Amino acid sequence: AYVVTENCIRCKFMDCVEVCPVDCFYAGENFLVISPDECIDCGVCEPECPAEAIFPDSDDRSTAWAEVNAKYAASWPNITRKGTPPADAEEWKDKPGKAAMLSP
Ligand code: SF4
Ligand code: F3S
Repeated sequence: AYVVTENCIRCKFMDCVEVCPVDCFYAGENFLVISPDECIDCGVCEPECPAEAIFPDSDDRSTAWAEVNAKYAASWPNITRKGTPPADAEEWKDKPGKAAMLSP
């Protein structure tokens, strides 16, 4: 499965949800996750993310986030259309230390 990682936090651009053929994104307040049970590994979401936050689970950058995706995909609501990103999304792009800011 593909995995949403730290750089999505507080950016939440949502371009990824528009292209997913199986609608397997789930949305929290300031982060999105992918359901590992539903993702078909098509890879089309990866280049769409302006924050470059999506990687395949085989990538080292996904390791710490795979479990987070599985956990919240089970409780957050499904999202299939792009909404309005946070007003300060661009400012948070590539900022370090965002992991602690994830709103469950
Ligand atoms: Fe959806 Fe494909 Fe991305 Fe998986 S890899 S989340 S199926 S767009
Ligand atoms: Fe997040 Fe990138 Fe999607 S910032 S909401 S993974 S387009």
